[in-house]
Amino acid sequence: MTWRATVLTLFPEMFPGPLGVSLAGRALASGVWGLETRDIRASATDRHRSVDDTPAGGGPGMVLRADVLAAAIDAVDASSDRPRLVMSPRGRPLSQARVAELAAGPGPLIVCGRFEGIDQRVIDARQLEEVSIGDYVLSGGEIAAMALIDACVRLLPGVMGKLASSTEESFSAGLLEYPQYTRPQMFEGRPIPDILTSGDHARVAAWRQAETEALTRARRPDLWALRPVQITGPKSESRKTPKNKTDG
Ligand code: ADE
Repeated sequence: MTWRATVLTLFPEMFPGPLGVSLAGRALASGVWGLETRDIRASATDRHRSVDDTPAGGGPGMVLRADVLAAAIDAVDASSDRPRLVMSPRGRPLSQARVAELAAGPGPLIVCGRFEGIDQRVIDARQLEEVSIGDYVLSGGEIAAMALIDACVRLLPGVMGKLASSTEESFSAGLLEYPQYTRPQMFEGRPIPDILTSGDHARVAAWRQAETEALTRARRPDLWALRPVQITGPKSESRKTPKNKTDG
């Protein structure tokens, strides 16, 4: 069975968008993966085709109705065991490990939220996994869904070949990628670091490892703290859960 993503959205015209070009687009055109979009509004039942309503308890904005969204989800394939995701800034942060799991399966059904949110009851009743692509708020889940699909598609067999496995390995090791250079040898007075043109593979590898570690320490202390602990004896570093800070 071909890997496929089914996207439930109020804006199906946003797809395939960037997923229709470059690597993902070529793989889509050649049938390596499939993309299906469903218009949530097609499941509206009233004569105004309304999909949202004001939040219970008051407050700004509109909330996506549970009954309309549940009908849209059930119309896809209620019995299937595909992962059901909903893109949301309050979801669990997407990781390369989760991307790899999703790429290894049949492909997810992805709900794109809009408005102030989605009625919690449909998230509970249809067991939707809330996924965030970062600590910032987009105007809807569509661009987040595209990011997730793109990250999965590049891991599918035959999409990127060797290229994917090398960058993938680097990030999956939990550290950031070392810097890359190519010709010209001199750019605006900046040469390529000598080691990289020395032909000494061991020194190149050591330089890259050192760069990777320095970058990760400086930019992502969170990742650095999570790197696999070297067992060096009873006093070896161990990961501690920071105590919650209390104000005052
Ligand atoms: N929808 C709006 N913001 C989002 C985010 N950061 N991640 C996933 N979905 C979103």
